Amino acid sequence: MIDQGHRVTSWPLVPGLDGAGVIEQVGDKAGDFMDGDRVLALFTPGDSSGSYQEYAVVQGKNVAKIPATWSLEEAATLGVCYLTGIMALGIAFKTPLPFIEDGPNSGLQPSSVLILGGSSAVGAATIQLLRLAIPDCKILATSSTRHHDHLRNYLGVDEVIDRNSSSLPQDAKQATAGRQGVDAILDVVAAGRAQRDIFEALSPTGPKIYAQVWTGDEEIVAPEGVNSIMFRGRDLPQLPGNQNIVRALEQLLQEKRYKLPLPVHHVGHGLSALEKALGLMRQGVSGEKLVVSI
Ligand SMILES: NC(=O)c1ccc[n+]([C@@H]2O[C@H](COP(=O)([O-])OP(=O)(O)OC[C@H]3O[C@@H](n4cnc5c(N)ncnc54)[C@H](OP(=O)(O)O)[C@@H]3O)[C@@H](O)[C@H]2O)c1
Repeated sequence: MIDQGHRVTSWPLVPGLDGAGVIEQVGDKAGDFMDGDRVLALFTPGDSSGSYQEYAVVQGKNVAKIPATWSLEEAATLGVCYLTGIMALGIAFKTPLPFIEDGPNSGLQPSSVLILGGSSAVGAATIQLLRLAIPDCKILATSSTRHHDHLRNYLGVDEVIDRNSSSLPQDAKQATAGRQGVDAILDVVAAGRAQRDIFEALSPTGPKIYAQVWTGDEEIVAPEGVNSIMFRGRDLPQLPGNQNIVRALEQLLQEKRYKLPLPVHHVGHGLSALEKALGLMRQGVSGEKLVVSI
């Protein structure tokens, strides 16, 4: 947003979509929230509602209470990757999402999914949501080998694949033995732009779905016969039950059905630490979430 102006209509603007904190004052229509509640929120960039400041105003439907066992720094990492994972499943795959009140309750239930970018924030969030949505789905995910333990033993991925493997499509095919490939690929890191053979991992007898997150670049063109779909957080209004998704996250946290997707890297305190964190982000992040306390 800062470097490329995505979603910016005018400057100056307070950025920051993710964050967590303590409610200073509730408004008239804030539902059952109270002053002093520890909460996370989906913020909206702008003068008063971006998260890169000490005080921000957010809508009640975008706020979730945090269990006492969660730190604000951990909770601050949850919102956007959760929202994007919901879009991947609910909008791109059109799978049922039974944990969202009035959410999608019918649709595609792939028997296997290959997630490209399992150690990204969106990937780690979506792995958990996919397991909740379709418990029997065989989940394959790519990452650097140093994150394989986190993916396999913490997030419960069935088959982890080295993102640098020279035989990635074959590795995926082998892991799905009888079906000769996966029903769907979920690309949350635009891997398909450079890795053009990845589409060979799709089962010839399956629905051949390739879902790609919008990264700000042009859409990745899939080969003919592949059902390619792009999704993004801004698709939220199209999702049935969209007003309940943050409330659903609150419930999942309370019931301990959703975990911290990635470890937190606490970069520092104060507005000046934001510059440091943004610098680190520009260099590239690997399997962690950068957090600044303000
Ligand atoms: N449109 C929207 O609404 C929306 C919302 C959220 C995010 N996004 C986009 O989604 C993308 C992911 O966001 P994020 O915050 O989850 O990213 P992130 O956590 O910063 O992603 C970093 C991870 O990407 C992995 N990675 C990079 N290239 C890869 C490849 N070719 N194969 C496998 N893994 C690869 C790295 O894996 P290793 O370290 O294991 O190598 C690293 O862990 C970004 O482009 C972001 O802009 C879009």
